Amino acid sequence: LEPSFRCQSSRKSAIQAATQLADINWDSIGFGLVSTDYMYIAKSLKDGEFSEGELHRFGPIQLSPSAGILNYGQGLFEGLKAYQREDGSILLFRPEENALRMRLGAERMCMPSPTVEHFVDAVKKVVVANKCWIPPSGKGSLYIRPLLMGTGTVLGLAPAPEYTFLIFVSPVGNYFKEGLAPINLIVENEFHRAIPGGTGGVKTVGNYAAVLKAQSTAKAKGYSDVLYLDSIHKKYLEEVSSCNVFVVKDNVISTPAINGTILPGITRKSVIEVARTQGFLVEERLVTVDELLDADEVFCTGTAVVVSPVGSITYLGKRVEYGKNAVSCVSGLLYNVLTSLQMGLSEDPLGWTVII
Ligand code: COI
Repeated sequence: LEPSFRCQSSRKSAIQAATQLADINWDSIGFGLVSTDYMYIAKSLKDGEFSEGELHRFGPIQLSPSAGILNYGQGLFEGLKAYQREDGSILLFRPEENALRMRLGAERMCMPSPTVEHFVDAVKKVVVANKCWIPPSGKGSLYIRPLLMGTGTVLGLAPAPEYTFLIFVSPVGNYFKEGLAPINLIVENEFHRAIPGGTGGVKTVGNYAAVLKAQSTAKAKGYSDVLYLDSIHKKYLEEVSSCNVFVVKDNVISTPAINGTILPGITRKSVIEVARTQGFLVEERLVTVDELLDADEVFCTGTAVVVSPVGSITYLGKRVEYGKNAVSCVSGLLYNVLTSLQMGLSEDPLGWTVII
């Protein structure tokens, strides 16, 4: 791979070439795949270690119809972002946390996993190779999607004999079509996302397939997404299809505690720390649906959604709106503090950002 970065566009202008920026409309990116130039692939070796891995042109991969990922869902994914600063430097946000989460998930899914060092190094390589796809400062970020999959063949139910660690990237803007405006959620009353003892707490691919039915039904009715309740009591909040949830009451911030059914979000964890630094009391505990309906403010967190305010919740046909009586906008403050850190616009006393 040449160190001079190539962009797929054949109509690259001299200015774009000089600034190494791909030829797309940076004002109109949402959260859909934009094919970039390179992906990274490493294969598992016999001893559970991984090959060093290398960059390949982004594109289809060959997979046996009998691959473990296709037949038995033996796979994990991660999500993290790279931001471009005005001086051209690139920032990653807590990538070692994604690496650790993938290692924990791999243990649960009976897969070998790359070391933290290997994971972070591979992320850096693929980001640098796709530098021209990182949105200019203020226009979005480069979403990084690491995958760990059972690619060896199986027929009877068993862990696959081989694994692939692959990373692809895509420039992204806002996750929800609402942009930064509040989203409208419906509390799901029939389906559940996870069960105690299941895999809800790891980022395995099947968790996300399992929510599509409820999510599609909700979207068809005009809601932005679905909020799930626990499967035993059907009254405690769990999370939204693609993000964690927080409620604010009298300036106390509460979020469901990590208990095995809830995805341990890195943005969730970071927002809790940021909020405490800002002087808020943050509680991780069981949060009831009644508390949700009585909250001053509700918001969601995730790598893709960042910090998204919730404008309304519908539960059993009753709609509650937020933000009307709230004295302050807690989510707005947390969004600003977090994104300033992620974009390298503020001091980083905790050393969360990694400069490439
Ligand atoms: C992320 O926020 O990065 C996720 O993995 C959620 C995904 C459904 C977009």
